[in-house]
Amino acid sequence: MKFFVDTANIDDIKELNEYGFLDGVTTNPSLIAKSGRDFKEVIAEICALVPGPVSAEVAAMTFEGMVSEGEYLARIADNVVIKLPMTLDGLKTCRHLVRKGIKTNVTLCFSANQALLAAKAGATYVSPFIGRLDDTNIDGMDLIRDMREIYDNYAFQTEILAASIRSANHVKEAAIAGADVATIPPAVIKGLANHVLTDKGLEQFAKDWAATGQSIL
Ligand code: E4P
Repeated sequence: MKFFVDTANIDDIKELNEYGFLDGVTTNPSLIAKSGRDFKEVIAEICALVPGPVSAEVAAMTFEGMVSEGEYLARIADNVVIKLPMTLDGLKTCRHLVRKGIKTNVTLCFSANQALLAAKAGATYVSPFIGRLDDTNIDGMDLIRDMREIYDNYAFQTEILAASIRSANHVKEAAIAGADVATIPPAVIKGLANHVLTDKGLEQFAKDWAATGQSIL
């Protein structure tokens, strides 16, 4: 499973990039607002740092507006992916951009039928929002399982990008359910490395090593 980081914070992206397991980045208007940065500048900076796909979301709601914004954003860098809303106009824009060779990410997907439409529109990625479904008492992971089955039934090439990930357990469950990608907040990515028994084991090894009085170098 590929790991994207879900942030527009450059320091977090730099740090995670150095660990070597960052395959891409997703942003959204809320994350851009949180960064306090200029949208186009921050997308250009992220694209220069991370060679993988970087999702940048349009703000327009109409087909014409989304096409203009999407084509503009796609010119910022070769690795920009245009994030479009899961609406009829968003799907029409998706089809248009895909025909022009521009990669797309259909976002705010909450049902299997929406995911089916996005795949039929040729989306490169579709983003089911796990955490936000869980918030409404619907198991978000059921959507990932349904999407995997539907996409495999018809050999759709659209990648399932598990989004709105809130916990390490979400990452594990999405991987088991066959999501192609998970976009994960920085703190959750770093938390995946933690285990209390790892900490306990290291503490004991350090103590026993000190007792030997030896040094490696
Ligand atoms: C996905 O691309 C979105 O940016 C993101 O995962 C939304 O997560 P949230 O529901 O925690 O805001």
